[in-house]
Amino acid sequence: MRYLRALGALLACAALSVSCTDARAGSGAGAPGAPAELSAYERIVPAPARTAPGGPGYRLTAATVIRTTAGSREARGVGELLAAALRPATGLPLRVSGTDAAGAAGGVRLRLDPAAGAYGEEGYRLQADGEGVTVSAYRPAGLFRGAQTLRQLVPAEGAPVVAGGSVSDTPRFAYRGAMVDIARHFFTVAQVKRYVDQLALYKVNVLHLHLTDDQGWRLAVDSWPRLAEYGGASEVGGGPGGHWTKEEYRDLVRYAGERYMEVVPEIDMPGHTNAALASYAELNCSGVAPARYTGIKVGFSSLCVGKERTYEFVADVLREVAALTPGRWLHIGGDEAHSTPHDQYASFMARAQAAVGDTGKKVMAWHQLAGAEPVPGAVLQWWGTDKTKAAEKEQVAAAVRKGAKLVVSPADRSYLDIKYDAATKPGLSWPGYVPVERAYDWDPGTHLPGVPESAVLGVEAPLWTEVIATPAELDLMAFPRVIGVAELGWSPAAALDWDAYRLRLAAQGPVLTKLGIGFYRSPDVPWL
Ligand code: ACM
Repeated sequence: MRYLRALGALLACAALSVSCTDARAGSGAGAPGAPAELSAYERIVPAPARTAPGGPGYRLTAATVIRTTAGSREARGVGELLAAALRPATGLPLRVSGTDAAGAAGGVRLRLDPAAGAYGEEGYRLQADGEGVTVSAYRPAGLFRGAQTLRQLVPAEGAPVVAGGSVSDTPRFAYRGAMVDIARHFFTVAQVKRYVDQLALYKVNVLHLHLTDDQGWRLAVDSWPRLAEYGGASEVGGGPGGHWTKEEYRDLVRYAGERYMEVVPEIDMPGHTNAALASYAELNCSGVAPARYTGIKVGFSSLCVGKERTYEFVADVLREVAALTPGRWLHIGGDEAHSTPHDQYASFMARAQAAVGDTGKKVMAWHQLAGAEPVPGAVLQWWGTDKTKAAEKEQVAAAVRKGAKLVVSPADRSYLDIKYDAATKPGLSWPGYVPVERAYDWDPGTHLPGVPESAVLGVEAPLWTEVIATPAELDLMAFPRVIGVAELGWSPAAALDWDAYRLRLAAQGPVLTKLGIGFYRSPDVPWL
């Protein structure tokens, strides 16, 4: 399989008739066999669609100016973020100037090019030679992605020379997400911003926030204030919990947006709702509020499907969350509703989806929605495993045949809270262990039987936090696996190859260290 993929990459390069490296190692004369031998272009993660190394490189100096397309506030913003990222590594001032013009050359240029439509929303071209480096893109998001490639071309150590060559790049999938569960354990906006910065380097473009669950409600809702005030003041293990104000949430959405990352807020329902049920007795069929919950069991809570008040609650919450969220989707969970009878689940999800529609947003939900009736345009998020029953997989494939799109998050591949191996602390192991190789060595485009790549919107790596409580634990569990998932989302299928990837990942070790990320030094990877 690996060799077939490698052959595919070579044929693709030949067909494009450009000089072309791909992500493989260990083939051809002088091919690299150790991470230290990889060229700057071979080290880029996610692997770009095409690279062509060669010619003299560009040395960043105290005189280097980052020039961005004149008149574009967004290009300038990308330039400022690039400068801020490169200054600590290089010690250079790297002034930013919004004065680039077509035809100008030299220094660093971030250029919006109306003629570069072929690169799409997120693609870009990067060219480096002795005079300078130019990143051009059709859209600001492409400029930002290209700027991340440029960051990776500046060595983590030694002289700040961008090796000569070029990159032409576009993503394979439009959706490349990471999720954080701030409900089981509370995380602050500042902590999530740090993760956003880490993810942005690897071209992740969706931040899915799991905002509510049995153990805590984390976002202020004006029309139902006790949700956050009371329902937010708990978490797994009995800690104080917490919640975000609307202004804090807006600030995070803005921060992510400046990094061209779309926020998908999740309000899980009808199960995973004990924090809401504890906050408002009227949401319970019994009329009695349960105690707050700080354990890690699932499947015991349900909104009261038969009460109209429930749907007022759903509509109020979704309306307020939608008003705070510029992104396209509202995620309504729908998973593990084990204490909601199936007919009630189906009727509830129909009304919840309609409530999403009323806000002008699109529905996203975990793949159990396939067992009810997904509305047209709904996105299902697959979180099954290799061992999930064929009938459940077929249910999802059937929903896809009717038009649903899929984001793939296999729990036994992309769940970042799962232990790497028996020795990992912390982490869960219900779907087995997920070593770094397993998290990488699969293909989102062909993962589910009966689901063609054209129906796959992309891939996501969720980080559940039943047993993850601190930023250090987040670092350890997410890195390096989330980098692999980011590559599965971005790089061409032909470039995906574990033997090559592990060398490229090894070369990320010093980068992660410089960024202060306490990653897991997996023995699968020959870390530099
Ligand atoms: C899930 O892991 N319950 C989506």
